[in-house]
Amino acid sequence: MVDYQLIENYTKKKLEANNNGHGLDHALRVVNNIGLIASEIKCNIDICKICGYVHDLIDIKVARDVNQEIAELSTFLTNDLKLKQTEVNQILEICQSISFSKNIEVKSVEAKVVQDADRLDALGAIGIARTIEYSASVNRPIYIEGDITNDTALGHFHAKLYKLPNLMNFEISRQIANDRVLIMKQFEAQYINESKVDG
Ligand code: ADP
Ligand code: NI
Repeated sequence: MVDYQLIENYTKKKLEANNNGHGLDHALRVVNNIGLIASEIKCNIDICKICGYVHDLIDIKVARDVNQEIAELSTFLTNDLKLKQTEVNQILEICQSISFSKNIEVKSVEAKVVQDADRLDALGAIGIARTIEYSASVNRPIYIEGDITNDTALGHFHAKLYKLPNLMNFEISRQIANDRVLIMKQFEAQYINESKVDG
């Protein structure tokens, strides 16, 4: 049995100071999404869930020193969680391969499940909130008319987020993603409408 409380505590401590959309709440939602996907897809659920918790700890956007975090996570997984070396290697490989920006093709079913689960958290109402939060953190505006680049929050919807349903690895994730994109498109249309001023 995997001690999930131990993993949650480790993740919580590591993400405590995070203010760019990668807090413990994100990790917990990704774990939850993994549960949804794994209800239809045969995979090693423990490996997936552990990745759900720790996937961002060794990401350049979160870790101050990536190599140091990889070493610490490795030690934690081996000594505290008592995982086998092959499992530790598998977890580290998945976490390092799933980032959108890295554009690496993921191969194992476990990596695919975690990738879809992580991407789902960039969509829907939560996705809207995280995008606006991120834009604010780098001093970018929410909306500039006609902008479909990463330079504005609504632009980022077009530049990346609306493309995610097509990039999903499984049909079940694609369905959830499509539903969440609908909410975002409604929000965008309403936002643009309300932004119009007379004169
Ligand atoms: P990943 O977990 O795939 O690495 P990111 O770290 O790129 O995801 O993104 C984390 C959150 O910040 C997501 O909700 C994403 O949409 C948002 N985000 C990333 N880049 C931008 C951007 N240029 N403008 C607005 N939001 C962004
Ligand atoms: Ni993530």
